[in-house]
Amino acid sequence: MANEPLDLVDWRFTIDFEGIAWAVFDRAGESVNALGRRPLEELEHIIQWIAAQAKVNGVRGLGILSGKENCFVVGADINEFDEFDTEESVSSTINTVTEILNKIEGLEITVVCGINGACLGGGLELALACHYRVATSVDITRIGFPEVKLGIIPGFNGTARAIRQVGPVFALQNMLNGSMLSASVSRKAGYIDELVENSAQLRWRVRKAILSESKSRPVKSISFIMTKWPFRSFIANKISKEVGKKINPEHYPAPFQLIKLFKHCGGSHKALKLAETKAFAPLMLSETSRNLRRVFKLSEQLKAQAPRNIRFKPLRVHVIGAGVMGADIAGYCVAAGMQASLQDLSTDILKSGLKKQEKLFKKRFKTSSEYNAAKSRLIADPEGKYIARADIIIEAVVEKLDVKQELLATIEPSLKPGAVLCTNTSSLMIEEIAKKLQDKDRLIGIHFFNPVEKMPLVEVIRGVGSRDKDIHRGCIFVRSIGKLPLIVKSSPGFLVNRVLTPYMFAAFQRLEAGEDMMQIDQAAKVFGMPIGPIELADRVGLDVCLHVSKILNKDFNLPSLARLLANDKLGKKSGEGFYVWKDNAPITSIVNTEQSYLCQLGHELLKPLVVECIRCRDEKIVGSSDLIDAGVIFGTGFAPFRGGPLEYAKSFNKTATNYHFT
Ligand code: NAI
Repeated sequence: MANEPLDLVDWRFTIDFEGIAWAVFDRAGESVNALGRRPLEELEHIIQWIAAQAKVNGVRGLGILSGKENCFVVGADINEFDEFDTEESVSSTINTVTEILNKIEGLEITVVCGINGACLGGGLELALACHYRVATSVDITRIGFPEVKLGIIPGFNGTARAIRQVGPVFALQNMLNGSMLSASVSRKAGYIDELVENSAQLRWRVRKAILSESKSRPVKSISFIMTKWPFRSFIANKISKEVGKKINPEHYPAPFQLIKLFKHCGGSHKALKLAETKAFAPLMLSETSRNLRRVFKLSEQLKAQAPRNIRFKPLRVHVIGAGVMGADIAGYCVAAGMQASLQDLSTDILKSGLKKQEKLFKKRFKTSSEYNAAKSRLIADPEGKYIARADIIIEAVVEKLDVKQELLATIEPSLKPGAVLCTNTSSLMIEEIAKKLQDKDRLIGIHFFNPVEKMPLVEVIRGVGSRDKDIHRGCIFVRSIGKLPLIVKSSPGFLVNRVLTPYMFAAFQRLEAGEDMMQIDQAAKVFGMPIGPIELADRVGLDVCLHVSKILNKDFNLPSLARLLANDKLGKKSGEGFYVWKDNAPITSIVNTEQSYLCQLGHELLKPLVVECIRCRDEKIVGSSDLIDAGVIFGTGFAPFRGGPLEYAKSFNKTATNYHFT
């Protein structure tokens, strides 16, 4: 029997003594498997060989596995997307891939895939073309369609196959929110046919499924009625309305395209496959998709701020200050698996800071043993006894220079060698805070944003004397709790607060000049910001905004703000600021303003932010222009479909004559 009958680089292909062919995807030179041109060509050769030679060589089935430790297939190779410039070239490539998948589906022998780790996008589309799917039930196994996050839809007929396999309601929800499902949820939904406990059992179970000629059956559920007219139309309209409340079809067309496909072609698998292929190319070539792919790559650049070749595994963190930030930082570290000790002068604040974390643990941990284990990893430490054991110490006390200086000087002798000493200051200079330390170069900034749980970015602040070793360890710590680190020079406002301040200031000035605040906020949202500048100020706290503005020499000396502050109307935290707040949301009313005006106003509002980004680029506040875009997108939610403020400035300069960002 033939062994290694093909000349392959990214796949290993063998036929074992039982007549089972094994195609193991192990992309050369990469840590993960992505379906790029060469792996797809090789897969095509494998399938052609099977189709032609299986009978002659007595092949009984095909098992598709991955050679990577933690990943099946992460999806199509998005680095190759930028090479396409016409719809014809995209469609022709897509057709080649869908043909390969159709051939797999059409093989007479049983094709079974074994999934361990990420099985996403194109990887799931490949899996759905197989006759049966076995997956490990371990935590790293994640299954889903993240395409909409890249401005596209599943295009290798994954849309049609997912709807057929798990029913339209589940499939659409899953594709529209781009979420990654656990193996057990995927098994219940019907994406996966069988689970095994670990990767060691995978090949054996795939073999068994092949030998017993197992075939997956689409889940029969009530939701299949939804593929029939008029239910299809009803469900599509309902979902479209829901999605429309969250996103604008002009900014993010892919989700709406997906719903439309289902509405118009969801009654026929064949028609849906054809329509899906047709709809894919324009989406992939769109500005939105180009920019969203850029955002994905920017997130990878942020991850790369934490070097992989440095051995540092933070397990114990000590946080001083159990107020708004400190308690949540400690809780978040515990949720990420660390042990955290929390210290505060006030026992009441310490208690309530610890208690507050129970909500997060309940959300994160589904079993009572995990939940209790998390609670026991979060330790009340009013005297700072755990400082000596901590790998990372984060100071998060009040924003007063002398308080921070004294505190850090007091704890310095207790630190263990190699421990990273950090401050969560939002506005003070690192070198100023470090002035009373024996080792003044030891301190770095680790600037979390509020709310800690939701904000993906953490600025890692390099003081004038900060050592690379500590900065790198700070970044590794940030990565190890699943956040994105951005190394920023110690300078007023760092990056994110600095660029937000002139943006808010300009909005306040408009308010002062008589512009309606809801109109201002709506215009920013029309631009693509998650919330408007006035609501943002209320959320941050008007006292905090004023404080930061002074540090940046942009004193918000405005009568409307002064009046609110004088009456203790500090924003969300006091129940009233510019807005009155109820149930964590500002009370608003509908804005009846022409869309074109809101559009224009949105661009005007964001201009000061963009200009400040350009200054930060010129002053080299962070390592590159890309990192400015990355920081501002992940630190402020700057409209991702615009690719970042500097990218937006470039594209805007191309199309507008009355705006110039230089
Ligand atoms: P907070 O006022 O809510 O909490 C500060 C806590 O520190 C208080 O509970 C206080 O009792 C405690 N404390 C003061 N001196 C202490 C000492 N010597 N030893 C132990 N505990 C002491 O303050 P918040 O808002 O949590 O801010 C903390 C730090 O985080 C500040 O540097 C602030 O600039 C920064 N930050 C704040 C953000 C926010 O949105 N609140 C966002 C990002 C950074």
